[in-house]
Amino acid sequence: MCLYGDMRERRLGTHGPQITVIGFGAWEAGGDAWGPNESESSVVGAIRASLDAGMSWIDTAEVYGQGVSETLVGKAVADRRDSALLFTKVAPSPEGTGFRPEEVRRAAEASLGRLGVDVLDLYQLHWPDGSGVPLEETWGAMAGLVEAGTVRWIGVSNFDRELIERCRAIHHVDSLQQEFSPLVPEDRDLIRWCGEIGTGVLSYSPLGAGLLTGRYTREGLATIDDWRRDELLGDAGHVDRVFALIEGMRPVAEELGVSLAQLALAWNWHQPGVTAAIAGSRSASHVKANAEAGDLGLDEATLARLDAFKGSVAGLLTNRLRLEHLSRDQARRAIV
Ligand SMILES: NC(=O)c1ccc[n+]([C@@H]2O[C@H](COP(=O)([O-])OP(=O)(O)OC[C@H]3O[C@@H](n4cnc5c(N)ncnc54)[C@H](OP(=O)(O)O)[C@@H]3O)[C@@H](O)[C@H]2O)c1
Repeated sequence: MCLYGDMRERRLGTHGPQITVIGFGAWEAGGDAWGPNESESSVVGAIRASLDAGMSWIDTAEVYGQGVSETLVGKAVADRRDSALLFTKVAPSPEGTGFRPEEVRRAAEASLGRLGVDVLDLYQLHWPDGSGVPLEETWGAMAGLVEAGTVRWIGVSNFDRELIERCRAIHHVDSLQQEFSPLVPEDRDLIRWCGEIGTGVLSYSPLGAGLLTGRYTREGLATIDDWRRDELLGDAGHVDRVFALIEGMRPVAEELGVSLAQLALAWNWHQPGVTAAIAGSRSASHVKANAEAGDLGLDEATLARLDAFKGSVAGLLTNRLRLEHLSRDQARRAIV
């Protein structure tokens, strides 16, 4: 292990901006799926803590709290716009504004307003549309937003290779945002391929939606009262895998003198194809600790140790693929 002395940075794909290898995730700030926000000021404080700690970008979406997350991000960066890159997303209808070209343009304008900025740094399709809008029309509209100067770079999320290829035929895909962690490693090959074609990758739920941080005992899981209760904790195989992974990661974390969360984040940005990991939080102290994982270089022996261990729990894999309240399979089946 080595400490670089400051947060590592990388280019997001071949054409994108330089970004820190850990960024701030603002799904929680929506105050809905993860339970109500303690207060607006505490969430704004956590977002500002991410920039103070050296993170250079924030990921949000129109559907996070139906605009609440974007609004709080806007407040947090109002007086420090130059130190934060803002990444947001448009979602298909009915959860989001929709993927018809005029809807995408309308959604972008609304996000600009809530964020209080003139340009969106990265604009992403949140998940594949299931309502029959041809992807080519949607991606053409996204490319139009770049030409118009409304957004700087465009990306996708929860997409597979075939969908990315269809977008690439029209305009370069700057980024893929995908679930990826020791708990959900299934898209490893897709992510590696993105690295080869110059598409940056942002890993979401790198802490296994908080379960890999070791903050919960098995009994303590009963205190979780948010989206995870039905979608993750109802699956006994998933829970077994969480605790098997924690058991394997803990001695490595202890030897390195880092937390489980920091080890999971550092593991993530060392994986082939991954540009950076998005760590979600509403706690300034967690954010500060997460940022430190961007300064943590893992050597080959440590990575091999973690990979060997992951292999041994592969039998517990439950192939959990999820979007926020919408499984990827569900979305994928309905694609034109
Ligand atoms: N594109 C998509 O479909 C999609 C889907 C999911 C997520 N995302 C994006 O990815 C971001 C991250 O994913 P996620 O929120 O699902 O999961 P995550 O980052 O793996 O985990 C978030 C959870 O971990 C806790 N946590 C964070 N740092 C911690 C630390 N150092 N110690 C202990 N607990 C810690 C947070 O609670 P505290 O608030 O207490 O810190 C929160 O409950 C989201 O905010 C969102 O921007 C995108």
